[in-house]
Amino acid sequence: MPKFWTTALLLSGLVIIKVQVHAQEKATPASQHLLMDFGWRFAYGHPSDPQKDYNHATGYFSYLAKTGYGDGAAAPNFDDRSWRKLNLPHDWAVEQPFSSKASFSHGFKTVGPKFSENSIGWYRKSFTIPSTDLGRRIHIAFDGVFRNSVVWVNGHYLGTEPSGYLGFEYDITDYLNYGGNNVIAVRADATMEEGWFYEGAGIYRHVWLNKFNEVHIQPNGVFVSTAKVDNANALISVKSNIANEGKITKKFSVVHEIMDAAGRKVASVQSYEIELKAYESKDVNTQLSVANAVLWSLETPYLYKLVTTVKQANNTIDQQQTNFGIRTIYFDADKGFFLNGKSVKIKGTNNHQDHAGLGVALPDGLQDFRIKTLKQMGSNAYRCSHNPPTPELLDACDRLGMLVIDENRLMGTASTELNDLKRLILRDRNHPSIVSWSVGNEEWGIEGNITGARIAATMQAFAKSIDTTRYITAAISGGVGNGISTVIDVMGYNYIATKNTDEQHQKFPKQKSWGTEEGSTVTSRGIYVDDRKNNQLAAYDIKQNDSFYSLENGWKHYAQRPYLAGMFIWTGFDYRGEPTPFGWPSTGSYFGMVDQCGFAKDDVYYLRSWWSNQPTIHILPHWNWSGKEGQAIDVWVYSNADEVELFLNNRSQGKKAMEKNGHLEWKVNYISGTLRAVGYKNGKLVMKDAVATTAAGVAINLAPNVAAIKADKEDVVLITVDVKDKNGLHVPTSNNDITFSIAGPGAIIGIGNGDPTSLEPDKYLESIRTISINNIKEKTVENMENRPETAAVFDDSNWATAFSNDRTQGFAQLNKFIVYRAAFNINAQDLKGKLTFFYNSIGQQQSIYINGKQIANSLPQNSKGDAFIIDAAQLKEGANSLVIVATPLFKKQSWETVNTNPGVIQVLQPPAPWKRKLFSGLAQVVIQSTGGTGNIILKATSQGVKQASVTINAQPTKPRPAIEE
Ligand code: GAL
Repeated sequence: MPKFWTTALLLSGLVIIKVQVHAQEKATPASQHLLMDFGWRFAYGHPSDPQKDYNHATGYFSYLAKTGYGDGAAAPNFDDRSWRKLNLPHDWAVEQPFSSKASFSHGFKTVGPKFSENSIGWYRKSFTIPSTDLGRRIHIAFDGVFRNSVVWVNGHYLGTEPSGYLGFEYDITDYLNYGGNNVIAVRADATMEEGWFYEGAGIYRHVWLNKFNEVHIQPNGVFVSTAKVDNANALISVKSNIANEGKITKKFSVVHEIMDAAGRKVASVQSYEIELKAYESKDVNTQLSVANAVLWSLETPYLYKLVTTVKQANNTIDQQQTNFGIRTIYFDADKGFFLNGKSVKIKGTNNHQDHAGLGVALPDGLQDFRIKTLKQMGSNAYRCSHNPPTPELLDACDRLGMLVIDENRLMGTASTELNDLKRLILRDRNHPSIVSWSVGNEEWGIEGNITGARIAATMQAFAKSIDTTRYITAAISGGVGNGISTVIDVMGYNYIATKNTDEQHQKFPKQKSWGTEEGSTVTSRGIYVDDRKNNQLAAYDIKQNDSFYSLENGWKHYAQRPYLAGMFIWTGFDYRGEPTPFGWPSTGSYFGMVDQCGFAKDDVYYLRSWWSNQPTIHILPHWNWSGKEGQAIDVWVYSNADEVELFLNNRSQGKKAMEKNGHLEWKVNYISGTLRAVGYKNGKLVMKDAVATTAAGVAINLAPNVAAIKADKEDVVLITVDVKDKNGLHVPTSNNDITFSIAGPGAIIGIGNGDPTSLEPDKYLESIRTISINNIKEKTVENMENRPETAAVFDDSNWATAFSNDRTQGFAQLNKFIVYRAAFNINAQDLKGKLTFFYNSIGQQQSIYINGKQIANSLPQNSKGDAFIIDAAQLKEGANSLVIVATPLFKKQSWETVNTNPGVIQVLQPPAPWKRKLFSGLAQVVIQSTGGTGNIILKATSQGVKQASVTINAQPTKPRPAIEE
């Protein structure tokens, strides 16, 4: 720009304006919440063999002895190039095969004490921190790691978190390299189980990097709740905990604003000036009024946003947004539960957190899918059995309108357990969906005795000291009338077949109550004849044994008693583990109303009939009984019609009146054709359902649950796979083996079919084998060129063990050139893979030979390492030779060390094609965006049927702020 222009602009003041605009554009936000899920490295370690655990924690000083001494894979300069690259969330347990020797409760996946090689997982991630971050506080936050995780940043130990379910956060400010590279290392140990259900393994929830000013809102420091609602005018209580993590006293004020769902400000209040000394923190308490508040309800889950802003001389120095709902809840010992003053019967389900094909590593989109699936059956409540859930599950419940019991993992009142309960409540207390904290489940050792009563009473009082707005419950299986059941505010019954709720209600008339587990029926989706030899159970709602009610009998008990607030079915979704009443080779539960994929079992229609207002009529079983001609088949109809008439090939089988909360049964002699049920309300035909005998399957059909996804590396689409007959009818008995291929910006991340006995892989992944270079020998030579020792075969039997001499400067002066020889073993399978030698310099100059052929000439020392793709033609099955001729490295100071490890050879095998057998006619494929935009095309083929393909569009989007890969 010519000089006079600058002057002219300066005079007119324009330059100054331009500079300001520019500064605003560039300005870093006061606080940042950055997703840290992408571009991690992963490899297995070992619980007891240090060598297989990267010699971690073997140093003279451990990371517990001196700060910054994280060694092995915890060291910042550890070479992880050969490790697998992946994005979080990640569950390594689901990637394992099944074995009869593995844990029944964990779905027989080969993780745990008997599978040491698969029970320790290491994760590493490099990231840069700009120099402009200097002066900010920086935290790393993990939403959940299974389990017993240890975390280091740049070799500095941050802490150990035993819980596989609670989130945890470390301040890493002082350890960071500003304007440079940083490394987070995590070691997770899934050897021990916390629960008796599938729990997964690894960093299976999100990781975040949080950056703020020294004065900032504490993590989980905001609490917003409805104080009261009067004629739709709401009074909102807010408490924000602000900390000064600077070294000097700071003054600031706090502004609280409430935005409605359209983003309009509906209330605001600013605090007086607050002063905090270094490392002091304070609660800022306030109340705001919202006129004509839209209440959060199951039908209209309206969310407001609280914006908490910390201001210093009019500058925003921190800001946090908290979604919340305005609603009142009330529990009555005689009348049950009330939401916004209206009685709501709780129609709940229990759920664990795993899904078919994915284990516990669920992309956020799955949470919405699962909650919507449960809502569609008329369910209005979710119990997080038996652990703190992922925050996104609670977000989905808030957004979609689902009440929640949020459950603590282990009962206890030592400071450890109370602190865990506190962390759960602090993290989750702003979710309008949560109506109750559960302090525990079926604690058999204490639930019926005085110890249990004491522990429950303490936990209850402690929970109320943190949050008075929720009700405290415990789920009790035995000892009713004693122990916990004598002190708990909301009695939770697990299975009433063995309990008398009326008696307890009489004895404790002020105690509120609900069924925390009920309807423990065991069924296989789409199976209608018990096949115990093959571990399949008919899908009629029949009680398991005398310790349990059927779903229908359970619900009738709760529906008839207003003092019982409602019940939670065991379970909504099937889950891995607990394949009761079977063992191996069943790997998943039979309890679900829907299977592990979310495909409806027939029970769903019983629930939809009596839990929802949707007109429902559903016939079971299917009508493909070839070979059973003339035999009586049990036909059931679920419906909320007054009367139902059943027809077989248009011949009436009789009309029957429906009992409230009941179902109807016919015995129908089988002939192929169409079974039709018509439902009448007030004498009028209002609904119908039909099942028809199908012909053989001829064509695959792929049905995505959405037509487009966001191109953000996170969004998912679920594809339902089935086979149709020549008339386009779904074939409910088909079990075709289907193979899939995918093109475009999407990847298959999991596959399932809801068969509790399936032993097929959940994932088809590339496999990595690393070959380390051991038993290196060395010999000093005169020069580097034309060395005969580099030959593929050379007698090195009298050479010295490499690096047995200390690498002093004197050694380097006397030994100018050294030849190193080692052998490594290659198997036939390796020769089919992609081989990469990830080399680390063991000399200042080095030439490298594999089987006598030079792969590097006079390579200079490189602290970042070099990588060589090895042509399989250069290798042979069995022993291969590696020779390095080098000028030696030496120590400049006696306490230094030099690298003695030339690196590893990585053998990468491509994944086998994704495939799955249909179970009772269905399978599910989960596809995730890989980031690009455009069409994702999934193709499915199977022998003897027509192939299919489906296109899903990955659309441009603004991804949420994240740390780059
Ligand atoms: C209950 C328990 C659940 C599950 C269920 C299986 O006793 O609370 O977690 O194990 O039994 O029947």
